[in-house]
Amino acid sequence: MYAGHFFKQAGCKVIGIKEADVALLNEEGIDVGELASYKRLNNTIKGFKGAKETKEDLLLHPCDILIPAAVEKSINSENAAKIQAKIIAEGANGPTTPAADAVLQSRKILVIPDLYCNAGGVTASYFEYLKNINHISFGKLSFRQESQNLREVLRSVEESLKEAGVLRQAQANRRTQTLSGQRQRSGCRGLGA
Ligand SMILES: NC(=O)c1ccc[n+]([C@@H]2O[C@H](COP(=O)([O-])OP(=O)(O)OC[C@H]3O[C@@H](n4cnc5c(N)ncnc54)[C@H](O)[C@@H]3O)[C@@H](O)[C@H]2O)c1
Repeated sequence: MYAGHFFKQAGCKVIGIKEADVALLNEEGIDVGELASYKRLNNTIKGFKGAKETKEDLLLHPCDILIPAAVEKSINSENAAKIQAKIIAEGANGPTTPAADAVLQSRKILVIPDLYCNAGGVTASYFEYLKNINHISFGKLSFRQESQNLREVLRSVEESLKEAGVLRQAQANRRTQTLSGQRQRSGCRGLGA
């Protein structure tokens, strides 16, 4: 359904959506935004008024672009010859079996492979995986990276200063300042006591 949102933005008409419990069809176009809100409220797309429930196998319904985005092997040797789409965009991983792929090729149906088509999802999953194995949130992940970068910059500045012979003088000045600061603080404590 989320893919349908972007397809609609690009000017497509989403005519059918199939989920595990129900399939919806509306040749005039389904309002994907409204359907998403409906699903958030009801936890299902069943009962949505903007389309009709159908028992038809939507994989075989005539359309320009078919997006199998649920399970593996949904397009196989049994149904590949009956697919009526011109383009298949593989949202799921491995939705087309090798046997079906051969049939689709012979019928000149363009298949956009999963490796390319759902790469964005895989990339996002990789970051989720990293976050999980490190037991840290995204904010902390970038914080760690940023502080590492800052430390690297400071280390490189210190090295350059050392090479230029400036660092010793700067460290000596810093020690002097720290000592005088400590004296002032202990003086204050003394007065306050
Ligand atoms: N989540 C990711 O980051 C990601 C990235 C790349 C690829 N994928 C692939 O996309 C596919 C779906 O993953 P997901 O994360 O979106 O899962 P999900 O559980 O969020 O969504 C699966 C959807 O498929 C529907 N569904 C399940 N069985 C069905 C059936 N028999 N007929 C019709 N619809 C059915 C469900 O109703 C649900 O809406 C998988 O093949 C997965 O490997 C996921």
